[in-house]
Amino acid sequence: QFDATLRPRTLQDYIGQEKIRENLKLFIDAAKGRSEALDHVLLYGPPGLGKTTLANIIACEMGVNIKSTSGPVIERPGDLAAILTNLEPHDVLFIDEIHRLSHVVEEILYPAMEDFQLDIIIGQGPSARSIKLDLPRFTLVGATTRAGLLSSPLRDRFGVISRLEFYTHDELAFIVTRSARILGMAIDKEGALELARRSRGTPRIANRLLRRVRDYAQVRADGAITLRVVQETLRLLEIDEMGFDQMDRMILLTIIDKFGGGPVGLDTIGAAIGEESDTIEDVYEPFLIQNGFLNRTPRGRVATPAAYQHFGRLTPERPQGSL
Ligand code: ADE
Repeated sequence: QFDATLRPRTLQDYIGQEKIRENLKLFIDAAKGRSEALDHVLLYGPPGLGKTTLANIIACEMGVNIKSTSGPVIERPGDLAAILTNLEPHDVLFIDEIHRLSHVVEEILYPAMEDFQLDIIIGQGPSARSIKLDLPRFTLVGATTRAGLLSSPLRDRFGVISRLEFYTHDELAFIVTRSARILGMAIDKEGALELARRSRGTPRIANRLLRRVRDYAQVRADGAITLRVVQETLRLLEIDEMGFDQMDRMILLTIIDKFGGGPVGLDTIGAAIGEESDTIEDVYEPFLIQNGFLNRTPRGRVATPAAYQHFGRLTPERPQGSL
């Protein structure tokens, strides 16, 4: 992964998500004290907040190997069986997008998680046989954008369930300053804070923008990252004052201009702007909702007065969706 070098390797180096960090430290210390595998961990929250990073940190802190895969990649029960039987005791198995596992694969996972047993059927018809294998004790770390996407039997088998939150501006400023140091660049306080403010609360976005800011600083300035360098780069990238990109703006302006501010169904918005509903819901909406620009109502999505104001549109008389 392109930002692999920017990822913290230990809980100590991990910034933000205080509650999760504190809890994980406790559970890891306890498991290590008992020489046991850590309980299964489910991490959920919007993309780019550090679920994969945390999975790797858990393995590192436990002093075990990590095998990483993702829900859609595990097509057949045999694929999962191959992975499970190759684990060493206490290893971490990381399954990203765990909500996208097929039913048949999920069925294999239940006894594996609960009893460390593999129940598989080999062969077909009259010669089919069911075999049971003991698995080493392992830790499943699952990641998903929304815990609600998981079936409840799967969710119930995780001993630790943690929701990742958007980062504060101060936390992100700290992260970009750390990243700049790793990349060998100078960034001043004002520059770091401006970049932080416009990164949608998301380290992955902050680090991506930092690389573009670095390009700008190198070619159009003297290499140092200042407030002006950040502002100029973000202007070129069409990232606005709130950190909205073209897709954020398109979503809000479509609701405001094409659908009278809403309520309008998610699928309708998706069709209007040519983007998958799932992507809008998982990637874009959480930030817009949390910052008060968008509301979910039973009848669909609604642009808030703050959204109207942001785009310099007159707020409609009656708040939308109030009826
Ligand atoms: N890089 C990306 N996410 C980070 C985090 N949470 N802490 C430190 N560095 C990071």
